[in-house]
Amino acid sequence: MKDEILSLLPADFCWRDKLHYYSSTDSTNAQAKKLAVEGAPHGTILLADHQTEGRGRLGRNFHSPANSGLYLSVILRPGCKPTELMHLTCAAAVAACDGIQSAVGVRPGIKWVNDLVMGNRKVAGILTELSTTPKDGTVEYAIVGIGINCCQKPGDFPTELSHIAGSLAMSVDKPVSRALVAAKVIQELADMNISENAQIITRYRKSCITLHQNVSLIRGNNVVHALALDVDTNGALVVQFADGTKETVSSGEVSVRGMYGYI
Ligand code: BTN
Repeated sequence: MKDEILSLLPADFCWRDKLHYYSSTDSTNAQAKKLAVEGAPHGTILLADHQTEGRGRLGRNFHSPANSGLYLSVILRPGCKPTELMHLTCAAAVAACDGIQSAVGVRPGIKWVNDLVMGNRKVAGILTELSTTPKDGTVEYAIVGIGINCCQKPGDFPTELSHIAGSLAMSVDKPVSRALVAAKVIQELADMNISENAQIITRYRKSCITLHQNVSLIRGNNVVHALALDVDTNGALVVQFADGTKETVSSGEVSVRGMYGYI
């Protein structure tokens, strides 16, 4: 797989010497953290065929079976303040959409904030993690983790995911090359200019299926309904309640569902 991915990347691709491949690991984000602490440079890529402890947002698991998905993490060292990276998950979502579209010919939608959706099913998720330096509070490293369901068939998901999860192959109804998806997504991540907040969020809004929908905002056991109005330049969701009041909610505090189900 590693050689196939390298063969699909341009010969002068800036990150090509920093690709680490694991047939199985606990979590590429966890391994990326270890490498980052040991000093791994900007653009270090970790890719696994299988994860035993794939991690999702809000402490959830990410189902990561062998031979079917793509589990990838990239170490970034942008050298900026954490407040300048509030939109990192959105940027990674746009890069992943671009890469998937280029590999399989169909563009996923984005369910705010980090789920990529095709045919009303989640096909990919993104988990970004940051570490700051104690000295001046700048970002020491950021890890962008992306999990993509590539080749699964409908019966391949565990019962609890069977009504939510889908794969690229299920959506495009033809075989999907994981190596090609990996190469295209990695290239888009390398091309992303994280300082261009406004452009990134403009592109994010175009793919965001949550906008203009009635949604349920879930904070622990508390569920409230609202209309999703906008995504601001930090990647936060602007919502309006039935009484007309507005609130800007961040991805760390709420989970969003459609009024009648996952979407
Ligand atoms: C989510 O759906 O909440 C985010 C899922 C992110 C999964 C990816 S797979 C590669 C990387 N390693 C992990 O443990 N998680 C991310």
